[in-house]
Amino acid sequence: MQKSSFQVKWKSPSNIALIKYWGKHGHQLPANASLSMTLSDSVSVTEVLFSPLNSDSGPVVNFTFEGKQSEAFQQRIEKYLTYLAEQEMPFLKKYHLAIQSHNTFPHSSGIASSAAFMSSLALCLCSVEEQLFEGIGYAFYERASYIARLGSGSAARSIYGGYVSWGRTMHVRRSSDEYATPINKIVHSTFLNYADTIIVVSDTPKAISSSEGHRLMENHPFHLARYRQANLHHEEILRCLLCDDRKRFAEIVENEALQLHALLMTSNPSWILMEPDTLFIIQQVRKFRQHTDIPLCFTLDAGPNVHLLYSIEESVPIRQFIDESIRPFISSSARFIFDKLGSGPEQIFFHKFE
Ligand code: PMV
Repeated sequence: MQKSSFQVKWKSPSNIALIKYWGKHGHQLPANASLSMTLSDSVSVTEVLFSPLNSDSGPVVNFTFEGKQSEAFQQRIEKYLTYLAEQEMPFLKKYHLAIQSHNTFPHSSGIASSAAFMSSLALCLCSVEEQLFEGIGYAFYERASYIARLGSGSAARSIYGGYVSWGRTMHVRRSSDEYATPINKIVHSTFLNYADTIIVVSDTPKAISSSEGHRLMENHPFHLARYRQANLHHEEILRCLLCDDRKRFAEIVENEALQLHALLMTSNPSWILMEPDTLFIIQQVRKFRQHTDIPLCFTLDAGPNVHLLYSIEESVPIRQFIDESIRPFISSSARFIFDKLGSGPEQIFFHKFE
């Protein structure tokens, strides 16, 4: 094999889960099927320079995030790439990888940065793999989703735009626990024009890591009921997306968010991640829905920040609701990020040097 250098850059979005992945087994395999919406503007941009080593002693990794080195990130990425070199991509042993990444969204904003970053890194790795082993027989995006999943489960879904399902289920063709599948072909056009406004009520870093959260599910008294319910919600939300049932869609999405928090509250140790402003926003959303019949709904990640989901066609009354019924009553330090459904990752460049 010729030892070329490569420089590759991808941007890849974050996603917000509508049906939550919370609980795993084996090597990053999900306990239930999950489903998410890929964002448009909240992206990680990652560039990797692959330089050949004189031996197979790699991968040697140098990681900088937003221009700075971080010992914790460096170790996590080294561990991930070493695992890949051993199990999946032996060519990595022959390379030094200089990885630079930045996000277009603020830290600790309730936007999953690991999904955006791990998917962008996986795409860089798979682009080089594809170049080195042309005709290896992998479908590129399926492979990238699989590789991203090994770094962070939810990153598997960020490989595709629109609505994405991950986890084996008889209700999605070609579904798998190993990689995600886009489902846009079955989605009604109403849902293809959807907004996500993120209300950052607190930007203190996550109190609990998702790996710790997944671990807590192993001995959780409700875990079997949760996995059963998640799979039922997954099946039902597919029907809502297909049939334009926005009312039931809102009920399921909110129930999923509250279940995630109920599981956290009732685990051992117990975690209460909502803030008073989180609850206030939830109550206001429900009142708005009762008074207007517009099926605006909220979801939450494992933190206090609130995602408001709605059809872009209803932006005018919803922006007015945010400005009049939310903004004046919550902490003045709260920030608002206006994002929407996005079309998925993009390669920025790929260069090969002999
Ligand atoms: O991909 P992880 O291991 O960071 O877990 C993600 C967990 C949630 O964000 C809470 C839910 C999800 O499905 O994205």
